Amino acid sequence: MDNTQPILEIRDLITRFATRYGIVTAVDGVSLSLGKGECLGVVGESGSGKSVTFASVMGLIHQPGWIDGGSVKFSGRELVGLDRRAYRSLRGKDIAMTMQDALTALNPALTVGAQIMEVILAHGEDLPAGAKHSRGAAREQAIEIMRLVGIPSAETRLDEYPHQFSGGMRQRMMIAIALACRPKVLIADEPTTALDVTIQAQVLELIADIRGELGMSVVLITHDLGVVAEYCDRVAVMYAGQVVESGPTSEVIGNPSHPYTQGLLNSIPKLSHLDERICPIDGQVPELIDLPTGCRFQSRCTFADGDCDSAQSMRTKIAGHDVRCRLLDAEAPS
Ligand SMILES: Nc1ncnc2c1ncn2[C@@H]1O[C@H](COP(=O)(O)OP(=O)(O)OP(=O)(O)O)[C@@H](O)[C@H]1O
Ligand SMILES: [Mg+2]
Repeated sequence: MDNTQPILEIRDLITRFATRYGIVTAVDGVSLSLGKGECLGVVGESGSGKSVTFASVMGLIHQPGWIDGGSVKFSGRELVGLDRRAYRSLRGKDIAMTMQDALTALNPALTVGAQIMEVILAHGEDLPAGAKHSRGAAREQAIEIMRLVGIPSAETRLDEYPHQFSGGMRQRMMIAIALACRPKVLIADEPTTALDVTIQAQVLELIADIRGELGMSVVLITHDLGVVAEYCDRVAVMYAGQVVESGPTSEVIGNPSHPYTQGLLNSIPKLSHLDERICPIDGQVPELIDLPTGCRFQSRCTFADGDCDSAQSMRTKIAGHDVRCRLLDAEAPS
């Protein structure tokens, strides 16, 4: 594989769900790429399709949902359409994902050690020669991973159940399970949302350290643009199932060009301007079942006019910085 090829490349992905109100398109033509060793931030309001995009990458979309088009390539290999068995051997080992809610994602009936060992044993070929399928070796490896994520007294805590761990420790366990087979890509879905700021910083630092140590590529799904600014090389902003802006973090945060990204940035407090008012974005994300034609943000956009009713494609602002807003051609609002 050549080094410039992205390790993960999503092209025109479409994921739909059948609901009692009709078919909704939760992911509508999403294209994203993740370079080797890179950290990509994915942000957007609740319901914008962040989790469904990456559940699609992981082969975790089941009835009543389906992937209805597009491509997901891992190291050049197409994943859309892969059978369950092939996915099982890839998941955890090549790409791992930590789920949004650490308490419900962990199995309450199994010790945390058993849950890490399950992943290690499922990919037994990764164990040292001669130790294949040995529970003892898997246990040693589980302890090592728990230490790596900073869980004290790993050898005894291995035999405890998820409810015996604090919220921060449970997040660390989720990361430990995801890292059990040292995947090449880690998708961390809101790894810190439920945590206080100190623990949040510890968990993010931990992901950054391990990324450096293992040479992993990371997708960080978050609501927090501050987190993106600090940890991500590039960022993609999602709105109502589409990517509306993407590019290098410094470019997107320094020169936000989609009115939605500008709104997101205006709705976070700035330490340097504490006297400035925070301006939340008025209105609500549209219902997926009832999307407007054209720009999906238009009902909340202060710059919108009748021309925003036509379909909006991604436009390149400068190389690598793309924006889904027709106003970009007319010198985007700033
Ligand atoms: N199983 C399902 N059936 C029907 N609709 C679904 C299903 N799973 C997700 N959706 C819809 O897909 C849309 C995108 O959901 P998704 O979970 O990806 O949002 P998100 O951006 O991750 O939000 P959050 O920030 O709250 O985690 C939502 O409108 C959601 O209702
Ligand atoms: Mg989500």
